[in-house]
Amino acid sequence: MQDSTAPDEDLLLPPPTIEQAAAEVLATNDRGGLYTVPGAKLYPHQWLWDSCFIAIGLRHIDIERAKTEILSLLRGQWSNGMLPNIIFNDSRAYATDRNAWRSWASPLSPDHVSTSGITQPPMLAEAIVRIGELLSASERHAWYKSVWPALIAYHEWLYTDRDPHKEGLVLQIHPWEVGMDNTPPWMAYLHEHQLPFWIRSVQKLKLLGVIGMFRRDAQTVPLDERFETLEILALLDTQRRLRRKAYDISKIMDHSLFLIEDLAFNAILIRANQQLRTIAKTLDRKLPEPLASHMKLTEEALEQLWDDYSSQYYSRDFISHKLLKESSVATLLPLYAGSISQERAAKLVSLIENDQAFGPAFPLPSTAVGSKWFQPMRYWQGPTWMNINWMVIDGLKRYGFHEHASALTDLSLELVEKSGFAEYFDPITGEPLGTDNFSWTAALAIDLLRSDSHD
Ligand code: GLC
Repeated sequence: MQDSTAPDEDLLLPPPTIEQAAAEVLATNDRGGLYTVPGAKLYPHQWLWDSCFIAIGLRHIDIERAKTEILSLLRGQWSNGMLPNIIFNDSRAYATDRNAWRSWASPLSPDHVSTSGITQPPMLAEAIVRIGELLSASERHAWYKSVWPALIAYHEWLYTDRDPHKEGLVLQIHPWEVGMDNTPPWMAYLHEHQLPFWIRSVQKLKLLGVIGMFRRDAQTVPLDERFETLEILALLDTQRRLRRKAYDISKIMDHSLFLIEDLAFNAILIRANQQLRTIAKTLDRKLPEPLASHMKLTEEALEQLWDDYSSQYYSRDFISHKLLKESSVATLLPLYAGSISQERAAKLVSLIENDQAFGPAFPLPSTAVGSKWFQPMRYWQGPTWMNINWMVIDGLKRYGFHEHASALTDLSLELVEKSGFAEYFDPITGEPLGTDNFSWTAALAIDLLRSDSHD
Protein backbone atom coordinates (compact mmCIF):
# COMPACT_ATOMS: atom_id res chain seq x y z
CA MET A 1 0.00 0.00 0.00
CA GLN A 2 1.16 3.47 -0.73
CA ASP A 3 2.24 5.60 2.28
CA SER A 4 -0.21 8.50 2.23
CA THR A 5 2.23 10.75 4.17
CA ALA A 6 5.03 10.40 1.58
CA PRO A 7 5.34 13.52 -0.59
CA ASP A 8 4.04 13.10 -4.09
CA GLU A 9 7.19 13.34 -6.26
CA ASP A 10 5.36 15.22 -8.98
CA LEU A 11 4.51 18.00 -6.56
CA LEU A 12 8.11 18.55 -5.40
CA LEU A 13 9.68 21.56 -7.04
CA PRO A 14 13.26 21.24 -8.26
CA PRO A 15 15.72 23.05 -5.95
CA PRO A 16 16.30 26.65 -7.02
CA THR A 17 19.27 27.32 -9.29
CA ILE A 18 22.09 29.51 -7.96
CA GLU A 19 20.69 32.39 -9.97
CA GLN A 20 17.18 31.94 -8.58
CA ALA A 21 18.49 31.70 -5.01
CA ALA A 22 20.66 34.80 -5.55
CA ALA A 23 17.72 36.74 -7.00
CA GLU A 24 15.71 35.75 -3.92
CA VAL A 25 18.40 37.23 -1.62
CA LEU A 26 18.30 40.50 -3.55
CA ALA A 27 14.50 40.58 -3.43
CA THR A 28 14.53 39.98 0.34
CA ASN A 29 17.07 42.76 0.89
CA ASP A 30 15.18 45.19 -1.36
CA ARG A 31 13.80 48.20 0.50
CA GLY A 32 10.72 49.61 -1.18
CA GLY A 33 12.05 49.14 -4.71
CA LEU A 34 14.49 51.99 -4.05
CA TYR A 35 17.67 50.41 -2.75
CA THR A 36 19.04 47.12 -1.44
CA VAL A 37 20.54 46.70 2.01
CA PRO A 38 23.83 44.74 2.10
CA GLY A 39 22.49 42.34 4.74
CA ALA A 40 19.24 42.64 6.68
CA LYS A 41 20.65 41.82 10.12
CA LEU A 42 23.92 43.72 10.24
CA TYR A 43 23.64 46.41 7.56
CA PRO A 44 20.20 48.07 7.48
CA HIS A 45 21.14 51.13 5.35
CA GLN A 46 22.33 51.82 1.81
CA TRP A 47 26.10 51.51 1.22
CA LEU A 48 27.93 53.06 -1.74
CA TRP A 49 30.07 50.34 -3.24
CA ASP A 50 27.61 47.64 -2.16
CA SER A 51 24.88 49.25 -4.26
CA CYS A 52 27.25 49.44 -7.25
CA PHE A 53 28.02 45.71 -7.05
CA ILE A 54 24.33 44.99 -6.46
CA ALA A 55 23.37 46.96 -9.59
CA ILE A 56 25.94 44.99 -11.61
CA GLY A 57 24.08 41.78 -10.70
CA LEU A 58 20.59 43.23 -10.81
CA ARG A 59 21.05 44.47 -14.38
CA HIS A 60 20.67 40.88 -15.60
CA ILE A 61 17.31 40.34 -13.93
CA ASP A 62 15.68 43.79 -13.85
CA ILE A 63 17.57 46.57 -15.57
CA GLU A 64 15.19 49.33 -14.50
CA ARG A 65 15.64 48.28 -10.88
CA ALA A 66 19.41 48.32 -11.38
CA LYS A 67 19.18 51.92 -12.61
CA THR A 68 17.10 52.83 -9.56
CA GLU A 69 19.75 51.32 -7.28
CA ILE A 70 22.27 53.78 -8.76
CA LEU A 71 19.94 56.77 -8.84
CA SER A 72 19.04 56.22 -5.21
CA LEU A 73 22.76 56.52 -4.34
CA LEU A 74 22.75 59.99 -5.87
CA ARG A 75 20.17 61.11 -3.27
CA GLY A 76 23.06 61.20 -0.83
CA GLN A 77 25.44 63.34 -2.89
CA TRP A 78 26.85 66.37 -1.06
CA SER A 79 26.93 69.77 -2.75
CA ASN A 80 30.72 69.48 -3.17
CA GLY A 81 30.24 66.23 -5.15
CA MET A 82 31.12 63.77 -2.38
CA LEU A 83 29.22 60.50 -2.36
CA PRO A 84 28.93 59.17 1.20
CA ASN A 85 29.57 55.53 2.02
CA ILE A 86 26.24 55.27 3.86
CA ILE A 87 22.79 56.75 3.32
CA PHE A 88 20.80 56.08 6.47
CA ASN A 89 17.41 54.46 6.69
CA ASP A 90 15.19 57.28 8.00
CA SER A 91 13.13 55.14 10.37
CA ARG A 92 13.09 56.24 14.03
CA ALA A 93 14.71 52.95 14.97
CA TYR A 94 18.00 54.15 13.46
CA ALA A 95 18.29 57.58 15.08
CA THR A 96 21.42 56.44 16.93
CA ASP A 97 23.17 55.52 13.67
CA ARG A 98 22.26 58.86 12.09
CA ASN A 99 23.37 60.70 15.20
CA ALA A 100 26.73 59.01 15.26
CA TRP A 101 27.52 60.80 11.98
CA ARG A 102 25.34 63.94 12.17
CA SER A 103 25.86 64.80 8.52
CA TRP A 104 23.70 67.87 9.09
CA ALA A 105 26.71 69.39 10.89
CA SER A 106 28.13 70.13 7.44
CA PRO A 107 26.52 72.81 5.26
CA LEU A 108 27.42 70.63 2.27
CA SER A 109 25.26 67.65 3.21
CA PRO A 110 21.91 67.00 1.49
CA ASP A 111 18.69 68.20 3.15
CA HIS A 112 16.42 65.21 2.73
CA VAL A 113 18.55 62.27 3.77
CA SER A 114 21.16 61.81 6.46
CA THR A 115 24.41 60.22 5.50
CA SER A 116 27.89 59.43 6.74
CA GLY A 117 30.63 62.01 6.12
CA ILE A 118 33.17 59.84 4.29
CA THR A 119 33.17 58.00 0.97
CA GLN A 120 33.93 54.49 -0.36
CA PRO A 121 35.78 53.11 -3.42
CA PRO A 122 34.53 54.74 -6.63
CA MET A 123 32.72 51.83 -8.30
CA LEU A 124 29.96 54.11 -9.61
CA ALA A 125 31.21 54.63 -13.18
CA GLU A 126 31.76 50.88 -13.55
CA ALA A 127 28.20 50.10 -12.45
CA ILE A 128 26.80 52.77 -14.77
CA VAL A 129 28.66 51.37 -17.79
CA ARG A 130 27.75 47.76 -16.94
CA ILE A 131 24.09 48.79 -16.98
CA GLY A 132 24.69 50.75 -20.19
CA GLU A 133 26.11 47.65 -21.90
CA LEU A 134 22.73 45.93 -21.71
CA LEU A 135 20.73 48.88 -23.08
CA SER A 136 19.98 49.84 -26.69
CA ALA A 137 22.11 52.67 -28.10
CA SER A 138 19.45 55.33 -27.56
CA GLU A 139 18.57 54.11 -24.06
CA ARG A 140 22.26 53.99 -23.18
CA HIS A 141 22.72 57.56 -24.34
CA ALA A 142 19.78 58.72 -22.22
CA TRP A 143 21.02 56.74 -19.21
CA TYR A 144 24.54 58.18 -19.36
CA LYS A 145 23.17 61.69 -19.89
CA SER A 146 20.98 61.39 -16.81
CA VAL A 147 23.92 60.51 -14.51
CA TRP A 148 26.66 62.60 -16.15
CA PRO A 149 26.50 65.75 -13.94
CA ALA A 150 26.56 63.77 -10.68
CA LEU A 151 29.33 61.49 -11.89
CA ILE A 152 31.55 64.35 -13.06
CA ALA A 153 30.97 66.20 -9.78
CA TYR A 154 31.97 63.06 -7.86
CA HIS A 155 35.22 62.54 -9.77
CA GLU A 156 36.05 66.25 -9.52
CA TRP A 157 35.51 66.08 -5.77
CA LEU A 158 37.80 63.05 -5.49
CA TYR A 159 40.63 65.12 -6.93
CA THR A 160 40.00 68.57 -5.48
CA ASP A 161 39.36 67.32 -1.95
CA ARG A 162 41.55 64.26 -1.83
CA ASP A 163 44.60 65.10 -3.92
CA PRO A 164 45.53 68.50 -2.51
CA HIS A 165 49.16 68.27 -3.69
CA LYS A 166 48.18 67.17 -7.19
CA GLU A 167 50.21 63.98 -6.98
CA GLY A 168 47.71 61.89 -8.90
CA LEU A 169 46.88 59.62 -5.97
CA VAL A 170 43.83 60.34 -3.82
CA LEU A 171 44.01 59.95 -0.06
CA GLN A 172 41.64 58.27 2.38
CA ILE A 173 41.00 59.36 5.95
CA HIS A 174 39.40 56.29 7.49
CA PRO A 175 39.65 52.56 6.70
CA TRP A 176 35.88 52.51 6.20
CA GLU A 177 36.53 54.58 3.07
CA VAL A 178 38.50 51.69 1.62
CA GLY A 179 35.73 49.19 2.39
CA MET A 180 38.30 46.64 3.65
CA ASP A 181 37.91 47.84 7.18
CA ASN A 182 40.63 45.96 9.08
CA THR A 183 43.00 45.28 6.21
CA PRO A 184 46.61 44.75 7.49
CA PRO A 185 48.28 47.89 6.04
CA TRP A 186 45.75 50.14 7.76
CA MET A 187 45.80 48.18 11.02
CA ALA A 188 49.62 48.16 11.08
CA TYR A 189 49.54 51.93 10.58
CA LEU A 190 47.02 52.23 13.42
CA HIS A 191 49.19 50.23 15.82
CA GLU A 192 52.31 52.23 14.93
CA HIS A 193 50.64 55.48 15.94
CA GLN A 194 49.79 56.47 19.44
CA LEU A 195 46.22 55.60 20.34
CA PRO A 196 44.09 58.16 22.20
CA PHE A 197 44.63 58.22 25.96
CA TRP A 198 41.22 56.80 26.85
CA ILE A 199 41.72 53.78 24.60
CA ARG A 200 45.15 53.10 26.11
CA SER A 201 43.55 53.26 29.56
CA VAL A 202 40.81 50.83 28.58
CA GLN A 203 43.55 48.51 27.30
CA LYS A 204 45.65 48.87 30.46
CA LEU A 205 42.66 48.23 32.71
CA LYS A 206 41.94 45.09 30.66
CA LEU A 207 38.41 46.24 29.86
CA LEU A 208 38.40 45.27 26.19
CA GLY A 209 36.72 41.92 26.88
CA VAL A 210 33.89 43.58 28.79
CA ILE A 211 33.38 46.21 26.09
CA GLY A 212 33.39 43.45 23.47
CA MET A 213 30.33 41.94 25.13
CA PHE A 214 28.35 45.08 24.32
CA ARG A 215 29.29 45.22 20.65
CA ARG A 216 26.26 45.27 18.39
CA ASP A 217 27.93 43.17 15.69
CA ALA A 218 28.52 40.43 18.31
CA GLN A 219 24.75 39.84 18.39
CA THR A 220 24.85 38.58 14.80
CA VAL A 221 28.40 37.40 14.11
CA PRO A 222 30.98 35.66 16.37
CA LEU A 223 33.60 38.21 17.40
CA ASP A 224 36.54 36.19 16.05
CA GLU A 225 35.10 36.84 12.58
CA ARG A 226 35.13 40.62 13.07
CA PHE A 227 37.40 43.47 14.14
CA GLU A 228 39.49 43.37 17.33
CA THR A 229 37.68 45.47 19.97
CA LEU A 230 40.71 47.76 20.39
CA GLU A 231 40.71 48.50 16.68
CA ILE A 232 36.99 49.21 16.53
CA LEU A 233 37.34 51.66 19.45
CA ALA A 234 40.13 53.47 17.60
CA LEU A 235 38.05 53.66 14.44
CA LEU A 236 35.02 54.99 16.29
CA ASP A 237 37.23 57.57 17.97
CA THR A 238 38.63 58.63 14.57
CA GLN A 239 35.12 58.92 13.21
CA ARG A 240 34.11 61.15 16.15
CA ARG A 241 37.05 63.45 15.40
CA LEU A 242 36.04 63.70 11.74
CA ARG A 243 32.53 64.60 12.83
CA ARG A 244 33.85 67.33 15.13
CA LYS A 245 35.57 68.85 12.12
CA ALA A 246 32.28 68.63 10.20
CA TYR A 247 34.10 66.45 7.63
CA ASP A 248 36.02 69.47 6.36
CA ILE A 249 39.17 68.12 4.68
CA SER A 250 41.28 71.22 5.30
CA LYS A 251 40.73 70.81 9.05
CA ILE A 252 41.15 67.03 8.89
CA MET A 253 44.49 67.32 7.09
CA ASP A 254 45.80 69.46 9.92
CA HIS A 255 45.75 66.56 12.29
CA SER A 256 44.37 63.14 11.52
CA LEU A 257 45.25 59.62 12.57
CA PHE A 258 44.86 58.26 9.04
CA LEU A 259 46.08 59.93 5.86
CA ILE A 260 46.76 57.10 3.42
CA GLU A 261 46.88 56.83 -0.37
CA ASP A 262 45.25 53.45 -0.51
CA LEU A 263 46.19 51.06 -3.29
CA ALA A 264 42.77 49.45 -3.73
CA PHE A 265 40.98 52.80 -3.79
CA ASN A 266 43.35 54.27 -6.37
CA ALA A 267 43.31 51.16 -8.56
CA ILE A 268 39.51 51.28 -8.59
CA LEU A 269 39.66 54.99 -9.39
CA ILE A 270 41.81 54.31 -12.47
CA ARG A 271 39.25 51.82 -13.75
CA ALA A 272 36.43 54.26 -12.92
CA ASN A 273 38.22 56.99 -14.88
CA GLN A 274 38.44 54.70 -17.89
CA GLN A 275 34.70 54.08 -17.63
CA LEU A 276 34.14 57.82 -17.35
CA ARG A 277 35.99 58.23 -20.67
CA THR A 278 33.73 55.55 -22.17
CA ILE A 279 30.68 57.49 -21.05
CA ALA A 280 32.08 60.79 -22.37
CA LYS A 281 32.78 59.16 -25.74
CA THR A 282 29.24 57.77 -26.00
CA LEU A 283 27.82 61.19 -25.18
CA ASP A 284 30.34 62.86 -27.49
CA ARG A 285 31.37 65.21 -24.69
CA LYS A 286 34.75 66.40 -23.54
CA LEU A 287 35.82 65.80 -19.97
CA PRO A 288 36.34 69.11 -18.20
CA GLU A 289 39.83 70.33 -17.38
CA PRO A 290 41.61 69.96 -15.00
CA LEU A 291 39.80 66.66 -14.37
CA ALA A 292 41.02 65.10 -17.63
CA SER A 293 44.71 65.80 -16.99
CA HIS A 294 44.42 64.84 -13.34
CA MET A 295 43.01 61.46 -14.40
CA LYS A 296 46.09 60.79 -16.55
CA LEU A 297 48.35 61.62 -13.62
CA THR A 298 46.79 58.84 -11.53
CA GLU A 299 47.81 56.15 -14.00
CA GLU A 300 51.43 57.31 -13.86
CA ALA A 301 51.39 57.76 -10.08
CA LEU A 302 50.22 54.18 -9.49
CA GLU A 303 53.72 53.07 -10.50
CA GLN A 304 55.13 54.87 -7.44
CA LEU A 305 53.33 52.26 -5.35
CA TRP A 306 55.35 49.42 -6.89
CA ASP A 307 58.12 47.88 -4.79
CA ASP A 308 60.75 46.17 -6.90
CA TYR A 309 62.22 44.18 -4.06
CA SER A 310 59.03 42.28 -3.21
CA SER A 311 57.51 42.64 -6.69
CA GLN A 312 54.25 43.99 -5.30
CA TYR A 313 52.15 47.14 -5.12
CA TYR A 314 51.38 48.71 -1.74
CA SER A 315 49.45 51.61 -0.19
CA ARG A 316 51.41 54.71 0.86
CA ASP A 317 51.57 57.11 3.78
CA PHE A 318 50.37 60.45 2.43
CA ILE A 319 52.79 62.52 4.53
CA SER A 320 56.02 60.51 4.53
CA HIS A 321 55.44 58.74 1.19
CA LYS A 322 56.58 55.53 2.83
CA LEU A 323 55.05 52.40 1.34
CA LEU A 324 52.99 50.39 3.84
CA LYS A 325 54.48 47.00 3.14
CA GLU A 326 51.92 44.70 4.70
CA SER A 327 50.21 41.98 2.75
CA SER A 328 46.78 42.60 1.33
CA VAL A 329 44.83 41.33 -1.67
CA ALA A 330 44.79 44.98 -2.81
CA THR A 331 48.17 44.19 -4.37
CA LEU A 332 46.27 42.35 -7.14
CA LEU A 333 43.86 45.19 -7.92
CA PRO A 334 46.15 46.98 -10.40
CA LEU A 335 45.05 44.11 -12.68
CA TYR A 336 41.55 45.53 -12.40
CA ALA A 337 42.85 49.08 -12.91
CA GLY A 338 44.10 47.91 -16.29
CA SER A 339 46.81 50.58 -16.57
CA ILE A 340 49.87 48.46 -15.68
CA SER A 341 52.22 46.72 -18.12
CA GLN A 342 51.77 43.11 -19.19
CA GLU A 343 55.04 42.31 -17.42
CA ARG A 344 53.75 43.65 -14.09
CA ALA A 345 50.46 41.82 -14.63
CA ALA A 346 52.35 38.54 -15.03
CA LYS A 347 54.16 39.13 -11.73
CA LEU A 348 50.82 39.64 -9.98
CA VAL A 349 49.43 36.48 -11.57
CA SER A 350 52.31 34.49 -10.07
CA LEU A 351 50.99 35.54 -6.63
CA ILE A 352 47.64 33.97 -7.51
CA GLU A 353 49.40 30.72 -8.44
CA ASN A 354 51.31 30.57 -5.14
CA ASP A 355 49.39 28.82 -2.35
CA GLN A 356 51.38 30.70 0.31
CA ALA A 357 50.24 33.96 -1.27
CA PHE A 358 46.77 34.24 -2.83
CA GLY A 359 46.21 30.75 -4.21
CA PRO A 360 44.76 28.49 -1.48
CA ALA A 361 41.84 26.11 -1.98
CA PHE A 362 39.15 28.75 -2.41
CA PRO A 363 39.77 31.90 -4.37
CA LEU A 364 41.79 34.93 -3.30
CA PRO A 365 42.04 35.36 0.45
CA SER A 366 42.02 39.01 1.58
CA THR A 367 45.51 38.59 3.10
CA ALA A 368 48.30 36.33 1.79
CA VAL A 369 48.27 32.91 3.47
CA GLY A 370 51.97 33.19 4.39
CA SER A 371 51.57 36.61 6.03
CA LYS A 372 51.85 37.02 9.80
CA TRP A 373 48.50 38.78 9.62
CA PHE A 374 46.66 35.88 8.03
CA GLN A 375 43.64 34.70 10.01
CA PRO A 376 41.24 32.68 7.83
CA MET A 377 38.13 33.79 9.73
CA ARG A 378 38.84 37.41 10.59
CA TYR A 379 37.00 39.77 8.26
CA TRP A 380 39.51 41.42 5.85
CA GLN A 381 42.57 39.67 7.34
CA GLY A 382 42.16 36.36 5.53
CA PRO A 383 38.65 35.49 4.34
CA THR A 384 37.64 35.37 0.69
CA TRP A 385 35.32 38.16 -0.46
CA MET A 386 33.30 37.91 -3.66
CA ASN A 387 33.70 41.54 -4.75
CA ILE A 388 37.51 41.39 -4.76
CA ASN A 389 37.39 38.14 -6.73
CA TRP A 390 35.05 39.72 -9.21
CA MET A 391 37.39 42.66 -9.80
CA VAL A 392 40.45 40.44 -10.18
CA ILE A 393 38.60 38.12 -12.57
CA ASP A 394 37.71 41.15 -14.67
CA GLY A 395 41.35 42.31 -14.69
CA LEU A 396 42.69 38.86 -15.56
CA LYS A 397 40.44 38.74 -18.60
CA ARG A 398 41.61 42.14 -19.78
CA TYR A 399 45.25 41.03 -19.55
CA GLY A 400 44.47 37.82 -21.45
CA PHE A 401 44.75 35.38 -18.51
CA HIS A 402 41.55 33.63 -19.49
CA GLU A 403 42.31 30.31 -17.86
CA HIS A 404 43.03 31.94 -14.53
CA ALA A 405 39.85 34.02 -14.83
CA SER A 406 37.81 30.97 -15.64
CA ALA A 407 39.29 28.95 -12.74
CA LEU A 408 38.53 31.77 -10.26
CA THR A 409 35.00 32.06 -11.64
CA ASP A 410 34.39 28.32 -11.18
CA LEU A 411 35.82 28.37 -7.65
CA SER A 412 33.69 31.39 -6.70
CA LEU A 413 30.53 29.69 -7.92
CA GLU A 414 31.51 26.45 -6.19
CA LEU A 415 31.89 28.45 -3.00
CA VAL A 416 28.36 29.88 -3.09
CA GLU A 417 26.95 26.51 -4.09
CA LYS A 418 28.63 24.94 -1.06
CA SER A 419 28.19 27.72 1.49
CA GLY A 420 25.43 30.06 0.32
CA PHE A 421 25.61 33.82 -0.08
CA ALA A 422 27.73 34.53 2.98
CA GLU A 423 29.35 37.90 3.58
CA TYR A 424 32.77 36.23 3.35
CA PHE A 425 34.30 32.73 3.42
CA ASP A 426 37.15 30.81 4.99
CA PRO A 427 39.62 30.53 2.06
CA ILE A 428 40.90 27.15 3.23
CA THR A 429 37.70 25.29 4.11
CA GLY A 430 35.15 27.40 2.23
CA GLU A 431 32.99 27.72 5.38
CA PRO A 432 30.55 30.68 5.36
CA LEU A 433 31.50 33.58 7.66
CA GLY A 434 30.04 36.91 8.73
CA THR A 435 26.39 37.62 8.12
CA ASP A 436 24.25 35.55 5.73
CA ASN A 437 22.22 36.45 2.63
CA PHE A 438 24.73 39.12 1.73
CA SER A 439 23.65 41.15 -1.27
CA TRP A 440 26.90 41.66 -3.19
CA THR A 441 27.80 37.96 -2.89
CA ALA A 442 24.44 37.14 -4.49
CA ALA A 443 24.59 39.90 -7.12
CA LEU A 444 28.11 39.12 -8.26
CA ALA A 445 27.35 35.38 -8.38
CA ILE A 446 24.63 36.27 -10.89
CA ASP A 447 27.09 38.35 -12.89
CA LEU A 448 29.74 35.62 -12.89
CA LEU A 449 27.17 33.05 -14.00
CA ARG A 450 26.26 35.21 -16.94
CA SER A 451 29.85 36.15 -17.75
CA ASP A 452 31.58 35.11 -20.98
CA SER A 453 34.32 33.00 -19.41
CA HIS A 454 31.74 30.73 -17.93
CA ASP A 455 30.00 29.65 -21.11
C1 GLC B 1 31.53 46.20 5.92
C2 GLC B 1 32.50 46.04 4.75
C3 GLC B 1 32.29 47.15 3.74
C4 GLC B 1 30.84 47.13 3.29
C5 GLC B 1 29.89 47.24 4.50
C6 GLC B 1 28.45 47.03 4.11
O1 GLC B 1 31.79 47.37 6.61
O2 GLC B 1 33.81 46.03 5.21
O3 GLC B 1 33.12 46.99 2.63
O4 GLC B 1 30.58 48.15 2.40
O5 GLC B 1 30.22 46.26 5.43
O6 GLC B 1 28.30 45.79 3.50
